Amino acid sequence: MVLLDSLDRPLHDLRISVTDRCNLRCTYCMPKEIYNKNYKYLEKSEILSFEEIYNIAKIFYSLGVKKIRITGGEPLLRNNLPDLISLLNEMDDLDLAVTTNGILLKKQALALYRAGLKRVTVSLDSVEESTFKILSDSPYSYSDVLEGIEAAISTGIKVKVNSVIKKNINDDQILQTVDYFRNTDVVLRFIEYMDVGNSNKWLHDEVVPSMMLQEKINEKYPIKKLSKNYSSEVAERFKLQDGSLELGFISSVTKPFCSECSRIRLSSDGKLYTCLFGLIGTDIKNKLRAGQNFSEIAEFITDIWNKRNDRYSELRSEMPMNNKKVEMPYIGG
Ligand code: GTP
Ligand code: 5AD
Ligand code: SF4
Ligand code: SF4
Repeated sequence: MVLLDSLDRPLHDLRISVTDRCNLRCTYCMPKEIYNKNYKYLEKSEILSFEEIYNIAKIFYSLGVKKIRITGGEPLLRNNLPDLISLLNEMDDLDLAVTTNGILLKKQALALYRAGLKRVTVSLDSVEESTFKILSDSPYSYSDVLEGIEAAISTGIKVKVNSVIKKNINDDQILQTVDYFRNTDVVLRFIEYMDVGNSNKWLHDEVVPSMMLQEKINEKYPIKKLSKNYSSEVAERFKLQDGSLELGFISSVTKPFCSECSRIRLSSDGKLYTCLFGLIGTDIKNKLRAGQNFSEIAEFITDIWNKRNDRYSELRSEMPMNNKKVEMPYIGG
């Protein structure tokens, strides 16, 4: 079964946020001046239970979703996350992954692996301590993240690393990160800093175009373009020509990929968003809690997807700056 939206894009991926909390305060995502002050985090009763998530996931699976990513906030802060992984793993041929900041990965890697997790994406913006601290604004060290990555690899979980690049903060460190991950099995991806939400007070000037990073890396290690793994892949893939590292570049600002966007997002309190830059979500939890059945909810989702026409990144320059966009830790990356 393939559901198409109004721009003929199929529904393939579901990204599920399991908590709006995080143990880091990355300045581009959860700045302390907002998230340590009067920010109203979700109450436990508002958050979907694992059973509810599983029931919603099964509906999406029946509608053609074969890829689910667990995000947050920081998903490993959610108690007993491996139990959710086990539940979701009951669906055959599902590509299941988790995006985490890696701080708790060392402790949880084995349990996640045993629950059936085969791949994880870890966010790490610098392998230099003072820069890591500036960006994550936390008491943790980049070495906590590296230990998490090593623990995941040693259990057999495949690892991708996501590195968000901000001008004059960590753009001078990309070669250090490349060097760190050469000759490992990690795929390293650089992400252009995006205007998700409003808290980060994003400025276009702080974006470093992926092209500049590619040129810089190419000067030291010649790179070669690789074909996409699948049509809606957000990263453009490259490898170092000596074969020592696979790279990815996610260029939502300079090279938007909305025309292939097959992703829908479920917030931890059960709202559906058809774009990362959404303004309002559609509540699905209330339908579930009111006892609507599988096919009623499937029909509701079908209708949402059929009407979808989002392409924020392509229209960015025409969008009003004062739109109240949904925040990243709430909706997941
Ligand atoms: P793979 O299955 O490993 O290819 O994962 P992925 O690249 O789909 O997931 P990941 O969570 O690693 O996404 C990487 C980053 O790309 C996210 O954290 C976002 O920053 C960005 N991203 C993912 N999907 C979208 C999207 O639909 N729109 C925009 N603008 N950015 C996205
Ligand atoms: N721009 C780009 N990437 C971001 N992420 C969080 N906020 C932003 C932003 N404003 C990244 C995180 C993580 C993923 C979930 O999204 O670093 O890798
Ligand atoms: Fe937490 Fe990820 Fe946001 Fe950083 S980017 S504050 S790790 S949710
Ligand atoms: Fe998809 Fe919206 Fe991102 Fe475009 S901006 S790729 S429509 S999530």
